[in-house]
Amino acid sequence: MYYIGVDLGTSSVKLLLMDEKGDIKNIVSKEYPLFFPKTGWSEQKPEDWWTQTKAGIKELISVIDASRVGGISFGGQMHGLVILDSEDKVLRPAILWNDGRTQAECDYLNKEIGREKISEYTANMALTGFTAPKLLWVKKNEPEVFAKIEKIMLPKDYIAYLLSGVHCTDVSDASGMLLFDVKNKCWSKEMMDIVGVKESQLAKIFESYEVVGTILPEVAKELGLPETVKIIAGAGDNAAGAVGTGTLEHGMCSVSLGTSGTVFIATDEFAVDDANAMHSFAHANGKFHFLGCMLSAASSNKWWMDDIVGTKDYAAEQKDITEIGKNHVYYLPYLMGERTPHNNPNARGCFVGLSMDTRREDMTLAVMEGVTYALRDALEIARSFGVEITRIRAIGGGAKSPLWCKVLANIMNVKVDRINCEEGPGYGAAILAAVGCGEYASVEEAAGKLIRVVDTIEQDSAIVAEYEKRYQVFRSIYPALVPVYDQIVANE
Ligand code: XUL
Repeated sequence: MYYIGVDLGTSSVKLLLMDEKGDIKNIVSKEYPLFFPKTGWSEQKPEDWWTQTKAGIKELISVIDASRVGGISFGGQMHGLVILDSEDKVLRPAILWNDGRTQAECDYLNKEIGREKISEYTANMALTGFTAPKLLWVKKNEPEVFAKIEKIMLPKDYIAYLLSGVHCTDVSDASGMLLFDVKNKCWSKEMMDIVGVKESQLAKIFESYEVVGTILPEVAKELGLPETVKIIAGAGDNAAGAVGTGTLEHGMCSVSLGTSGTVFIATDEFAVDDANAMHSFAHANGKFHFLGCMLSAASSNKWWMDDIVGTKDYAAEQKDITEIGKNHVYYLPYLMGERTPHNNPNARGCFVGLSMDTRREDMTLAVMEGVTYALRDALEIARSFGVEITRIRAIGGGAKSPLWCKVLANIMNVKVDRINCEEGPGYGAAILAAVGCGEYASVEEAAGKLIRVVDTIEQDSAIVAEYEKRYQVFRSIYPALVPVYDQIVANE
């Protein structure tokens, strides 16, 4: 049998075809546009996701006997608000996870209702990227749109809906909506009242590996798939990525250098930290996890390379960087504001420490280092809970760079394990499809059979010491700039 994993990302949809032994048979990627209608706003058209997912599936299965496809599942960009009317028409472009327009709504939730209460209802605090504040924003700014909402969904769930006709979501992705009671895995009545939505507008909740339905016959025909294909709920891209890297056992950690940068720590039991410094979400294996998320990770590198340096050949640009731990240039990666740890949509990117002898390579390295220092901020929060992190599994576009993995190992002072499959969420999604179809008894069994460490990048104590000094400098830059950021935004 074959299983399809759909990783609905922010820059593209990546589709992966796997056989029952876990061997990858094809990978296809299809891009779609991202719109920034105002500074700090970020939107996409759900219709573009659907068009490109369908084109991707057709291309993906062109190399096999498609009658043997058993199931499709997903890893999706989290938190995005997709709203449909009573005729299933998309009411407005989706407001994405890295959109910072909802500070006023978050202040209302955290300050007026109170962070402790919101945390009691949902296990999290209100953050600008989360879905409930977006609904409050639509209610206030586009009341005529809000009045027409029939269905509220997350990005990947829109694709699952069009494939299966079932309005579904999974526990990991629902966790990021701030409408979900993570501990009890159900919609929060209190949050529905606060936001002004009804349970009938929200999706039916599944565990990530559960079957939600069967492909609709007309869609099966259009895509060239058998009518027996099962649709499996899937997970938010971070939980799906954790499945794809085998980050399942209590205390295991993975780091994603994707458009966003995340630190993901699997936990057996539900837990919340007092300050809500990290997100407390459900995992795709039926358990839980902590997550720290920075908004511009590999996207900082993409911005630097594509838009500023003007190249697509990232490896060539990195090849002259032979020495690390000596850079005097610092980069703050807050191009879309920042979530963990600053929760400040007004933050902006900057370079500090430039001098007449600064070379292009120093700035290229500074971008990778700045993103990694920012991720270390999240890792330090986890360490402060007493979680001992000595190894991580790295995924995402940035992790394909050996240089960036070396920087990661030395700035974090951990060993970076590279595994046999770097496809993260797409592979995790295909595994969830295989589990849903009964190919494996559990997510753990599948990961245990399919995922293994093939290489480990070790840190070097001399470089770690140099980076430690520089990390302290990095940490001092943001607080100094906060008043400047506020002035910049006031003039925007
Ligand atoms: C996680 C988050 C991002 C997106 C990126 O909280 O916002 O990692 O899921 O796709």
